[in-house]
Amino acid sequence: MTVTATASPSLALAKYWGKLPGGVNLPATSSLAVTLAGLTTTTIVREADLSDRVRIDGVEEQPHAFERFFAAVRQLAAETPGSRILHFDVESTNSFPTAAGLASSSSGFAALAAATVKLSGIDDATPDKLSRLARLGSGSAARAVFGGFTEWRRGAEAATELAPPEHWPQLRVIAVIVHAGSKPISSRQAMERTRLTSPYFHAWTQDAEQTCARARQALLDRDLQQLGEAMRASYLRMFATMLAATPPVRYWSPATVAVLELAEALRADGIPVHETMDAGPQVKLVTTADHTQAVGTAVEETFSDYGWEPPAMIVSAPGPGARIASGAPVIGEPG
Ligand code: PMV
Repeated sequence: MTVTATASPSLALAKYWGKLPGGVNLPATSSLAVTLAGLTTTTIVREADLSDRVRIDGVEEQPHAFERFFAAVRQLAAETPGSRILHFDVESTNSFPTAAGLASSSSGFAALAAATVKLSGIDDATPDKLSRLARLGSGSAARAVFGGFTEWRRGAEAATELAPPEHWPQLRVIAVIVHAGSKPISSRQAMERTRLTSPYFHAWTQDAEQTCARARQALLDRDLQQLGEAMRASYLRMFATMLAATPPVRYWSPATVAVLELAEALRADGIPVHETMDAGPQVKLVTTADHTQAVGTAVEETFSDYGWEPPAMIVSAPGPGARIASGAPVIGEPG
């Protein structure tokens, strides 16, 4: 028997960066995110004989990276009457570049949680349980279990859905892939280095709560200008803490800066477009459906002015959470 699940990445509008000591992926900052419909991880899981096996985009992964996650699924199965304690053979593919700062780990572990729980016959898996489980693999995956707009509070073991995709269907995210290779340092390592060595880390975690609250209100009000200002405060302050780490963590490339400058210039021309970034050089431009074309064209022109090849761009809208491939949502409608 095989189970196929799909999930989409969770793009943080207000960032999670840093873990609280003592738990597993417990966030030091509250975050707010949108699940992106245009990008998909598809994960096929079947029962394995003796040990777990994971391939991502055809490449065999180190099993130890998944041990804690699989152990937690088996623990849940052991506690659930009628379910089966299994080893897993996993084949996962991304419709977008992996480990390049496009949050492939969020969609990856959200899809993996949905598929392994289903294959194990754990029938009472609530959204909250799936989110806790996904979090053990990658923090941001706690949010990617849900569709639409999600929130994950400082110290919380699970994320929650703040609003469904229909809350703001015109919102668009253009992911500008300025560099498609893997990032130089994983978010996990970079976060830990920042926590341990950046003198600004504490200030970042304090400030992030207010910034997240501002972003939350702007999102509920569908106020793109206010949301954009809070988004910028969030990602720029996150990077400020990283740059102050020893050794510094710097994901930006010249093309990154070119896109950030373009966003500023477009705003000065009255086009509502607001950028954010994650642990990688890519820039995500948040705008509305009626401006997507103009923004995309402006990005191409900027690259051409610099004499660079046009970048790949992926446009997405608020989308659904993790789903079993039959199309049935893994989680029910929020009550
Ligand atoms: O969950 P991780 O380890 O992939 O970390 C995610 C970190 C950021 O993408 C930079 C921010 C976020 O909230 O998603």
